Amino acid sequence: MRALVVYESMYGNTRVVAGEIADGLRVAYEVTVVPVAEATADLVAGADLLVVGGPTHMHGLSSASSRRMAAQGAAKDGSELRLDPDAGGPGLHDWLKDLGRRDGLAAAFDTRINGVPAFTGRASRPIAKLLKRHGYRLIGAPESFLVSSQNTLLDGEAGRARRWGMTIGAASKTYLPAHA
Ligand SMILES: Cc1cc2nc3c(=O)[nH]c(=O)nc-3n(C[C@H](O)[C@H](O)[C@H](O)COP(=O)(O)O)c2cc1C
Repeated sequence: MRALVVYESMYGNTRVVAGEIADGLRVAYEVTVVPVAEATADLVAGADLLVVGGPTHMHGLSSASSRRMAAQGAAKDGSELRLDPDAGGPGLHDWLKDLGRRDGLAAAFDTRINGVPAFTGRASRPIAKLLKRHGYRLIGAPESFLVSSQNTLLDGEAGRARRWGMTIGAASKTYLPAHA
């Protein structure tokens, strides 16, 4: 059984979280983890479970302008932010919009600032909504992993991401015919 983890990341935190989730999923799946630019239709078609995540920007999914703002933030004099190698690639919103219709299993996650979700927003909500709109059945609730206001992953979040991967991997198996 194959799982595909697709992520968008400007500063690297969502990439790290995606990698941890992938490691957790490996207990139950053969896993491929790719940035949006490499998430081809063939990879999606070959996945029994699709896991999608990105950074929360302006309370939701990133846009071309929020990604530009993120890049400008990293380019400022004295900034300690470093752009991820794939930061210049396409965003999740366009990729999700063009995702084919499929009766498959999926899960959604995001990274966001540590705070009350009503104030921070959560990109995993619109990700989940778009996945559902394309026919996917969601395994569990959308999940957030937290960064500090300096954009570093909070202590314990990497381990929590790995455990979340294990949990959705195990939960998804109950939906798959071969394991029914
Ligand atoms: C332009 C911009 C807008 C942001 N807006 C929000 C927001 O509305 N809520 C929030 O919790 N975090 C917000 N953040 C913080 C991001 O969620 C954080 O940078 C991201 O989770 C880090 O993931 P990454 O390292 O993979 O890019 C914003 C960051 C940027 C650059």
